[in-house]
Amino acid sequence: MSQVLIAPSILAADFADFGAECRAVEAAGADWIHVDVMDGHFVPNLTFGPATCAAIRPHIKGVMDVHLMISPVDPMIDAFARAGADILTAHVEAGPHIHRTIQAIRAAGMRPGVALNPGTPASAVAHVLDLVDLVCVMTVNPGFGGQVFIDLSRKIAELRAMIGDRRIHIEIDGGVDATTAPGVVRAGADVLVAGSAVFRGGSVADPAPYARNITAIRTAATSRQA
Ligand code: DX5
Ligand code: ZN
Repeated sequence: MSQVLIAPSILAADFADFGAECRAVEAAGADWIHVDVMDGHFVPNLTFGPATCAAIRPHIKGVMDVHLMISPVDPMIDAFARAGADILTAHVEAGPHIHRTIQAIRAAGMRPGVALNPGTPASAVAHVLDLVDLVCVMTVNPGFGGQVFIDLSRKIAELRAMIGDRRIHIEIDGGVDATTAPGVVRAGADVLVAGSAVFRGGSVADPAPYARNITAIRTAATSRQA
C-alpha cells in the first residue's frame, strides 16, 4: 500500500454548497471525500446525518468515506447504506460491541472502518483487524476542524506492524497538512484526511487553491517517503 490517498473533509467546506464543494475538490485531485457525522453526544458538536449524505452522493464520483462520531451506531447503519456510503467508520469507543457493529456495516454492503480517539491504544482494535478495511487514527480529539495535530507516530507504526500483510488502510484524521503529513506516512499511514489544509484560501467561486493545497500535501507526503 504505497500510494497515498488524500481525503478532504467537507467539515471545512461551505455547508450551504456541499455538492459544488465535492465536485470542486474532486476536480482538484481529491481521492476520497471524507464526511464527518457528529451527534452532539459522542462528540460536543453536531453536523448532519444520512439525509445530507444522500443529497451529496450524486456529486461524488469516487469514494464517499463516512466517519461516524455518533453513539449508538447500530440503529443508523442501514440509513447510511441507503445514503450511498462506500466506507462507514465507527469509533471503537462508541459502544461495547464494536465487533457486532463492524459485522453489521459489512452485512449492509459497506466497507467497515474503525476509528481510535487519541487516548485509545492501538491494542483496542487488535481483535477486529480481520474484519475491517480501514483503521482511522484520530490525531485530534474529534468534534471540530482546525485543531492542533497530536503526534501519534508510535501508535501508527504499532498499528501498521499489527496489521502485517492484511490489506487495511491506515487513515489519519486531524491537523493533517503539508508539515504533519510526512511523519504519519513514514509511520505507516496511507490515507490522509484534511479539512482546513485543503479548503483554506479557496471557494467554489475560486477553487484554484484547492488543487494547490492538495498537491502540497501529496508532494510533502510522498517526497519524504523514500
Ligand atoms: C474532526 C474530524 C476531522 C476534521 C479534520 O472531528 O473528524 O475530519 O474535519 O479537520 P482538520 O483537517 O481541519 O483538522
Ligand atoms: Zn473525520
